[in-house]
Amino acid sequence: MAGRPRAARLSATSSARIVCIDSASLSDVADLLALWEAAAENESRPADTADAVRILLIRDSDACLVARQGGRIVGSLIAGWDGWRAHLYRLAVHPGMRRQGIGRALLDAAAARFRSLGATRLDAMVLEGNELGHMLWRAAGFQSQEEWRRWVTPLR
Ligand SMILES: CC(C)(COP(=O)(O)OP(=O)(O)OC[C@H]1O[C@@H](n2cnc3c(N)ncnc32)[C@H](O)[C@@H]1OP(=O)(O)O)[C@@H](O)C(=O)NCCC(=O)NCCS
Repeated sequence: MAGRPRAARLSATSSARIVCIDSASLSDVADLLALWEAAAENESRPADTADAVRILLIRDSDACLVARQGGRIVGSLIAGWDGWRAHLYRLAVHPGMRRQGIGRALLDAAAARFRSLGATRLDAMVLEGNELGHMLWRAAGFQSQEEWRRWVTPLR
């Protein structure tokens, strides 16, 4: 699926500005970090590094979906597949580009990727207090699983 751009759904007000979804490459690392600094939910997680993003892109070159407008990255979604589970991370759309269907288009692209890989269920990590995120995930058909908690430890 890498390299095959998809047109995102566009609202009437943005129809002159084409947004395409494709996979991030190593040359996008700095732009991705800048997008996440400006647009991502940055609470409760370790700081991003360029090396960590490079490791992801080298391990799975289709895992990081980006929305581009005129060469600029305006949205992202990591669609991680480990052969067992389909995880979604880093759904973020530039503040000036929201409510134009870009988040939904990124999710659609991730769903297409996971379907082609044989996944049957998607999951997303969502902070309890992230109301904006809740609205998007709910609108996309996701439901919170109250009975589960994430258990973590740093790897030493
Ligand atoms: C959440 C986020 C990715 C949504 O991106 P987006 O491109 O604006 O989302 P879309 O335009 O595709 O919206 C899809 C649907 O989500 C819901 N939604 C999104 N933003 C909403 C808002 N501000 N108010 C109400 N509903 C909203 C709507 O149902 C919308 O469908 P509609 O426009 O047809 O009503 C974006 O707001 C963002 O980057 N937020 C900060 C980062 C973040 O919290 N990410 C989620 C991490 S879990």
